[in-house]
Amino acid sequence: MTGSPMTSANPMTDIGVCVFDAYGTLFDYASAAARCKDALGPDWQAFSDLWRRKQLEYTWLRSLMGRHTDFWHVTGEALDYVLDAHKRQDPALRALLMQQYLNLDAYPEVPAVLRQLKAKGLRTAILSNGSPTMLTSAVSSAKISEWIDASLSVESVAIFKPHPSVYQLVVDKLATPANKVCFMSSNGWDIAGAAAFGFRCVWINRSGAPMENLPAQPERQIKTLTELPALLGLA
Ligand code: LAC
Repeated sequence: MTGSPMTSANPMTDIGVCVFDAYGTLFDYASAAARCKDALGPDWQAFSDLWRRKQLEYTWLRSLMGRHTDFWHVTGEALDYVLDAHKRQDPALRALLMQQYLNLDAYPEVPAVLRQLKAKGLRTAILSNGSPTMLTSAVSSAKISEWIDASLSVESVAIFKPHPSVYQLVVDKLATPANKVCFMSSNGWDIAGAAAFGFRCVWINRSGAPMENLPAQPERQIKTLTELPALLGLA
């Protein structure tokens, strides 16, 4: 049987830097609402899903409208929508959820995988919609700073993913050609944007979602980051 490009056992070669999306890829954004389960009640998961959906929609819409504001602000505006939709307009609950968003859990495999990549001499970076303050806070509370060489925020270009100028930040700030960048994201639309830009993309398909019908596709697809070192021929 011949393997498809998505399942090929051949490792990806000639990679110089591993670049990770933040929210949903390294950090579990659902952990914010999960920690407030008691206050949110049994539909906390639906609350969390809508918060994420509105957060992303607002990034795309603001970028199309040419009305950028940072991801912290957008995250708060999305939360206000959800609190309204769930009839929970409570300033103390809002403040609690926003505070949790600054200290999200990393997915369980993240520290060990990053440590392994660094031990094998690869450069690592984050490329995220998150504001610099949000990224510093997330990296520090997840205790992964020693294995992350650079955190790049869209705030340098004042537009959100998947605008090509965001992916260009990696090329410019890390002085690396696009075809030596291995980009990991759990967001299929982010993978499409990065692949269209010219990165070599690995979709971390944590939820088992179908492939997005967008102009560019990932080179590989895995379920969690645990499989990444083997994919890069390091394990
Ligand atoms: C990020 C969002 C897309 O971290 O998850 O950029």
